[in-house]
Amino acid sequence: MSRTIVAPSILAANFANLADEIRKVEAAGADWIHCDIMDGHFVDNISFGPAIVDLVRGLTKLPLDVHLMIEHADHYVPRFVKAGANSITVHVEPEAKHDVAKTLQQIRDAGCRVGLTLNPETDFKLVEPYLDKIDMLLVMTVHPGFGGQPFRADQIEKVKRARSLGGDKIDIEVDGGINAETARVSIESGANVLVAGTSIFYAKDYAKAIGELRG
Ligand code: DX5
Ligand code: ZN
Repeated sequence: MSRTIVAPSILAANFANLADEIRKVEAAGADWIHCDIMDGHFVDNISFGPAIVDLVRGLTKLPLDVHLMIEHADHYVPRFVKAGANSITVHVEPEAKHDVAKTLQQIRDAGCRVGLTLNPETDFKLVEPYLDKIDMLLVMTVHPGFGGQPFRADQIEKVKRARSLGGDKIDIEVDGGINAETARVSIESGANVLVAGTSIFYAKDYAKAIGELRG
Protein backbone atom coordinates (compact mmCIF):
# COMPACT_ATOMS: atom_id res chain seq x y z
CA MET A 1 0.00 0.00 0.00
CA SER A 2 1.12 3.52 -0.66
CA ARG A 3 1.61 6.09 2.05
CA THR A 4 -0.86 6.51 4.86
CA ILE A 5 -3.72 8.93 4.21
CA VAL A 6 -4.51 11.38 7.02
CA ALA A 7 -8.05 12.74 7.19
CA PRO A 8 -8.56 15.41 9.87
CA SER A 9 -12.11 15.41 11.28
CA ILE A 10 -13.37 18.99 11.32
CA LEU A 11 -15.71 18.05 14.17
CA ALA A 12 -12.82 19.11 16.43
CA ALA A 13 -12.05 22.31 14.49
CA ASN A 14 -12.87 25.80 15.69
CA PHE A 15 -16.06 26.51 13.77
CA ALA A 16 -15.77 30.24 14.42
CA ASN A 17 -12.70 30.13 12.16
CA LEU A 18 -13.54 27.20 9.93
CA ALA A 19 -12.04 28.69 6.78
CA ASP A 20 -8.75 29.28 8.58
CA GLU A 21 -8.78 25.82 10.12
CA ILE A 22 -9.26 24.16 6.73
CA ARG A 23 -6.47 26.21 5.14
CA LYS A 24 -4.13 25.46 8.04
CA VAL A 25 -4.75 21.74 8.02
CA GLU A 26 -4.37 21.61 4.24
CA ALA A 27 -1.05 23.47 4.45
CA ALA A 28 -0.01 21.06 7.21
CA GLY A 29 -0.28 18.09 4.85
CA ALA A 30 -3.81 16.72 5.31
CA ASP A 31 -4.83 14.35 2.50
CA TRP A 32 -8.60 14.37 2.92
CA ILE A 33 -11.08 16.35 5.04
CA HIS A 34 -13.33 14.10 7.15
CA CYS A 35 -16.86 15.45 7.71
CA ASP A 36 -18.80 13.84 10.58
CA ILE A 37 -22.54 14.10 10.02
CA MET A 38 -24.69 13.35 13.09
CA ASP A 39 -28.48 13.48 13.22
CA GLY A 40 -29.33 13.16 16.92
CA HIS A 41 -31.09 9.84 16.19
CA PHE A 42 -28.54 7.28 15.03
CA VAL A 43 -26.07 8.91 17.42
CA ASP A 44 -26.67 11.03 20.50
CA ASN A 45 -25.30 14.24 19.02
CA ILE A 46 -26.05 16.71 16.23
CA SER A 47 -23.22 18.13 14.15
CA PHE A 48 -23.78 19.72 10.75
CA GLY A 49 -25.30 18.99 7.38
CA PRO A 50 -24.88 19.46 3.63
CA ALA A 51 -24.78 23.28 3.82
CA ILE A 52 -21.53 23.16 5.81
CA VAL A 53 -20.07 20.46 3.54
CA ASP A 54 -20.87 22.73 0.60
CA LEU A 55 -19.10 25.61 2.34
CA VAL A 56 -16.06 23.41 3.03
CA ARG A 57 -16.09 22.38 -0.64
CA GLY A 58 -15.52 26.01 -1.52
CA LEU A 59 -12.52 26.24 0.80
CA THR A 60 -10.39 23.33 -0.36
CA LYS A 61 -9.60 21.07 -3.29
CA LEU A 62 -8.86 18.13 -0.96
CA PRO A 63 -11.22 15.15 -1.19
CA LEU A 64 -14.14 15.40 1.22
CA ASP A 65 -14.68 12.16 3.13
CA VAL A 66 -18.25 12.27 4.42
CA HIS A 67 -19.18 9.93 7.30
CA LEU A 68 -22.95 9.68 7.72
CA MET A 69 -23.95 8.79 11.28
CA ILE A 70 -27.61 9.18 10.44
CA GLU A 71 -30.81 7.28 9.92
CA HIS A 72 -32.16 6.95 6.37
CA ALA A 73 -28.84 7.80 4.71
CA ASP A 74 -30.37 7.01 1.31
CA HIS A 75 -32.64 10.02 1.65
CA TYR A 76 -29.70 12.38 2.25
CA VAL A 77 -27.01 10.94 -0.05
CA PRO A 78 -28.02 13.13 -3.04
CA ARG A 79 -27.65 16.27 -0.94
CA PHE A 80 -24.14 15.36 0.15
CA VAL A 81 -23.22 14.47 -3.42
CA LYS A 82 -24.47 17.86 -4.54
CA ALA A 83 -22.51 19.51 -1.73
CA GLY A 84 -19.30 18.04 -3.16
CA ALA A 85 -18.57 14.83 -1.24
CA ASN A 86 -15.89 12.61 -2.81
CA SER A 87 -16.52 9.59 -0.63
CA ILE A 88 -19.61 8.75 1.40
CA THR A 89 -19.56 6.21 4.22
CA VAL A 90 -22.73 4.75 5.71
CA HIS A 91 -23.40 2.54 8.72
CA VAL A 92 -24.30 -1.14 8.46
CA GLU A 93 -26.34 -1.37 11.70
CA PRO A 94 -30.10 -1.98 11.37
CA GLU A 95 -30.62 1.15 13.53
CA ALA A 96 -29.36 3.21 10.56
CA LYS A 97 -32.68 2.28 8.92
CA HIS A 98 -31.73 1.88 5.27
CA ASP A 99 -31.21 -0.88 2.74
CA VAL A 100 -27.42 -1.09 2.89
CA ALA A 101 -26.91 -2.75 -0.52
CA LYS A 102 -29.14 -0.18 -2.22
CA THR A 103 -27.48 2.79 -0.54
CA LEU A 104 -23.99 1.54 -1.49
CA GLN A 105 -25.15 1.27 -5.11
CA GLN A 106 -26.75 4.71 -4.91
CA ILE A 107 -23.41 6.19 -3.78
CA ARG A 108 -21.58 4.33 -6.56
CA ASP A 109 -24.07 5.52 -9.20
CA ALA A 110 -23.62 9.10 -8.01
CA GLY A 111 -19.90 8.83 -8.83
CA CYS A 112 -18.61 8.91 -5.25
CA ARG A 113 -16.28 6.48 -3.56
CA VAL A 114 -18.27 3.98 -1.51
CA GLY A 115 -17.63 3.50 2.20
CA LEU A 116 -19.20 1.22 4.80
CA THR A 117 -18.67 1.29 8.55
CA LEU A 118 -19.52 -0.54 11.74
CA ASN A 119 -19.68 0.41 15.39
CA PRO A 120 -17.40 -1.20 18.00
CA GLU A 121 -20.34 -3.31 19.28
CA THR A 122 -21.24 -4.58 15.81
CA ASP A 123 -20.19 -8.04 14.65
CA PHE A 124 -17.76 -7.98 11.72
CA LYS A 125 -19.96 -10.57 9.98
CA LEU A 126 -22.43 -7.82 9.14
CA VAL A 127 -20.00 -6.09 6.77
CA GLU A 128 -18.51 -9.22 5.18
CA PRO A 129 -21.16 -9.58 2.43
CA TYR A 130 -20.39 -6.07 1.20
CA LEU A 131 -16.58 -6.15 1.11
CA ASP A 132 -16.45 -6.64 -2.66
CA LYS A 133 -18.90 -3.78 -3.23
CA ILE A 134 -17.08 -1.02 -1.39
CA ASP A 135 -13.96 1.10 -1.83
CA MET A 136 -13.41 1.63 1.86
CA LEU A 137 -14.23 -0.04 5.15
CA LEU A 138 -14.25 2.28 8.15
CA VAL A 139 -13.59 0.52 11.44
CA MET A 140 -14.95 2.70 14.24
CA THR A 141 -12.49 2.68 17.11
CA VAL A 142 -14.88 4.55 19.42
CA HIS A 143 -18.65 4.46 19.75
CA PRO A 144 -19.65 7.25 17.35
CA GLY A 145 -21.19 10.52 18.47
CA PHE A 146 -18.41 12.49 20.10
CA GLY A 147 -14.79 13.40 19.52
CA GLY A 148 -12.13 13.01 22.18
CA GLN A 149 -12.93 9.46 23.33
CA PRO A 150 -10.27 6.83 24.07
CA PHE A 151 -9.25 4.38 21.32
CA ARG A 152 -10.82 0.91 21.55
CA ALA A 153 -7.89 -1.47 21.13
CA ASP A 154 -10.33 -4.40 20.90
CA GLN A 155 -11.32 -3.18 17.42
CA ILE A 156 -7.88 -3.92 15.99
CA GLU A 157 -8.94 -7.50 15.26
CA LYS A 158 -11.50 -6.11 12.81
CA VAL A 159 -8.81 -4.08 11.04
CA LYS A 160 -6.70 -7.22 10.64
CA ARG A 161 -9.66 -9.26 9.41
CA ALA A 162 -10.66 -6.55 6.93
CA ARG A 163 -7.14 -6.41 5.51
CA SER A 164 -6.86 -10.18 5.23
CA LEU A 165 -10.25 -10.47 3.48
CA GLY A 166 -10.08 -7.29 1.41
CA GLY A 167 -6.42 -7.55 0.36
CA ASP A 168 -5.15 -4.37 -1.22
CA LYS A 169 -8.42 -3.71 -3.00
CA ILE A 170 -10.02 -1.58 -0.31
CA ASP A 171 -8.97 1.28 1.90
CA ILE A 172 -9.22 0.52 5.58
CA GLU A 173 -9.93 3.59 7.67
CA VAL A 174 -9.89 3.92 11.44
CA ASP A 175 -11.81 6.65 13.25
CA GLY A 176 -11.82 7.57 16.93
CA GLY A 177 -9.04 8.13 19.45
CA ILE A 178 -6.33 8.19 16.81
CA ASN A 179 -3.03 9.69 18.02
CA ALA A 180 0.61 8.91 17.25
CA GLU A 181 0.55 5.75 19.34
CA THR A 182 -2.82 4.31 18.25
CA ALA A 183 -2.05 5.27 14.63
CA ARG A 184 1.02 3.04 14.72
CA VAL A 185 -0.94 0.02 16.00
CA SER A 186 -3.64 0.64 13.39
CA ILE A 187 -1.18 0.92 10.50
CA GLU A 188 0.68 -2.21 11.61
CA SER A 189 -2.66 -4.04 11.62
CA GLY A 190 -3.54 -2.97 8.07
CA ALA A 191 -5.20 0.45 8.25
CA ASN A 192 -4.14 2.93 5.58
CA VAL A 193 -6.50 5.85 6.30
CA LEU A 194 -6.42 7.64 9.66
CA VAL A 195 -9.19 9.96 10.82
CA ALA A 196 -8.14 12.26 13.64
CA GLY A 197 -10.00 15.12 15.27
CA THR A 198 -8.63 16.19 18.62
CA SER A 199 -5.06 14.97 18.10
CA ILE A 200 -4.75 17.37 15.15
CA PHE A 201 -7.03 20.33 15.88
CA TYR A 202 -6.12 20.55 19.57
CA ALA A 203 -2.40 20.47 18.74
CA LYS A 204 -0.36 23.68 18.53
CA ASP A 205 1.44 22.54 15.41
CA TYR A 206 -0.85 20.79 12.89
CA ALA A 207 2.02 19.74 10.60
CA LYS A 208 3.85 18.11 13.48
CA ALA A 209 0.69 16.31 14.63
CA ILE A 210 -0.01 15.01 11.11
CA GLY A 211 3.62 13.96 10.70
CA GLU A 212 3.50 12.03 13.97
CA LEU A 213 0.40 10.15 12.82
CA ARG A 214 2.20 9.03 9.68
CA GLY A 215 5.03 7.77 11.93
C1 DX5 B 1 -16.83 9.93 16.16
C2 DX5 B 1 -16.47 10.57 14.83
C3 DX5 B 1 -15.00 10.80 14.71
C4 DX5 B 1 -14.45 11.73 15.73
C5 DX5 B 1 -12.98 11.54 15.86
O1 DX5 B 1 -18.19 9.99 16.31
O2 DX5 B 1 -16.87 9.75 13.78
O3 DX5 B 1 -14.61 11.18 13.41
O4 DX5 B 1 -14.74 13.06 15.44
O5 DX5 B 1 -12.54 12.38 16.86
P1 DX5 B 1 -11.27 12.07 17.76
O6 DX5 B 1 -10.10 11.97 16.84
O7 DX5 B 1 -11.22 13.23 18.66
O8 DX5 B 1 -11.54 10.76 18.47
ZN1 ZN C 1 -16.03 9.98 11.51
